[in-house]
Amino acid sequence: MASDSAPVVVALAARDTHALRHQVLRPHQTLADCAYPGDEVQGAHHAGVRLGMPEAPLVAIGSIAPEADPSGHAVLGDWRIRGMAVHPDHRGARHGRRVLDALVAHARDAGGAVPWCNARERALRFYERAGFRTYGERFDIAGIGPHFVMARVLPPRPKAPELRTARLRLVPLRAADAELTFDALSDPALYAFLAESPRTRAAHEAVTRRMARGISPRDDATWLNWLVLDREGPPSAESFAGTCQLTLPDGDMPTLGYAVVRDRWGRGYAREASAAVLRFLAETLGAPAVEATHDVRNVPSPRVLEGLGFRFVETRPDTDDPSGEAVERRYMLDAEGLRALGRTI
Ligand SMILES: CC(C)(COP(=O)(O)OP(=O)(O)OC[C@H]1O[C@@H](n2cnc3c(N)ncnc32)[C@H](O)[C@@H]1OP(=O)(O)O)[C@@H](O)C(=O)NCCC(=O)NCCS
Repeated sequence: MASDSAPVVVALAARDTHALRHQVLRPHQTLADCAYPGDEVQGAHHAGVRLGMPEAPLVAIGSIAPEADPSGHAVLGDWRIRGMAVHPDHRGARHGRRVLDALVAHARDAGGAVPWCNARERALRFYERAGFRTYGERFDIAGIGPHFVMARVLPPRPKAPELRTARLRLVPLRAADAELTFDALSDPALYAFLAESPRTRAAHEAVTRRMARGISPRDDATWLNWLVLDREGPPSAESFAGTCQLTLPDGDMPTLGYAVVRDRWGRGYAREASAAVLRFLAETLGAPAVEATHDVRNVPSPRVLEGLGFRFVETRPDTDDPSGEAVERRYMLDAEGLRALGRTI
């Protein structure tokens, strides 16, 4: 029964979840029992995975709604996950995780801070892999079996502020900016040394929307993205000079990224914009170090990094490159380098 079609995460109506809830979670009850209290409360969200669109059968489902944890174990638990179920023929293919990530993202965007659930004992590891932990003692739910309250405390995510340099203004990227950045960022010259190719307009809009959200889809990293502008006034295709990006993975080193549109190359914009972003990283976010990588064939990029005080660390295969042939250089700027940046640039 397993299909090779690409999994697509979709939003569902509550009733769309009933058949799979019945089959996987409540086979001994009626289909009507598979409507849960809370399914229709304001803010409730139901998500699923289909293999191929639009009418392929659902292989995974889950639901989330605002509800405090009544046990008080996950004291701050504010959004409850229910009805996580994956069709038996499709387990272990990350469909459950896709649904769970979509539910947590929904709660986060609605202001939630601590998604929680009553987890079946057999599903503990699944939730642990997604950053949840148990609170309190094991307890039994009649007819279903042993459970634990599990919750995940979502870390606060800083936002990108507007930054200024002598010649440039860095404004936080918005989803609507896809329109004004599309032409310049479709330039094949920008992709000469990247694993990706220029994107279709629809793909560019989707990527811009994800980046503007400021949080990775799995909620395990902060993404800060700026438009670099070299004219005053609202962002426009004419003032758009490039992008700057900080990726802050939870528990790992931040990474700097930048791109300059082709007709602005050679003006020192990458260095000037990056210096402002790095000062913000050091002074406001208190990061002790930052790294950056570039393809070995990209000649200008190391000059930008070395001009900022980065030190070469290693040459290694580029794991993002599907051909497996690309090689990248990794650079690092330590605390001392970040402090020096504040004084010199
Ligand atoms: C629990 C369930 C939703 C998991 O869905 P899934 O699609 O099979 O899980 P995924 O493939 O997304 O697994 C994500 C991670 O969890 C781990 N995981 C999932 N189920 C696991 C299990 N039973 N034991 C150990 N690890 C497990 C996976 O190995 C994977 O780990 P990784 O991040 O290291 O790769 C699914 O097995 C299911 O429907 N079970 C029956 C109903 C149920 O118990 N629902 C939960 C009610 S609280």
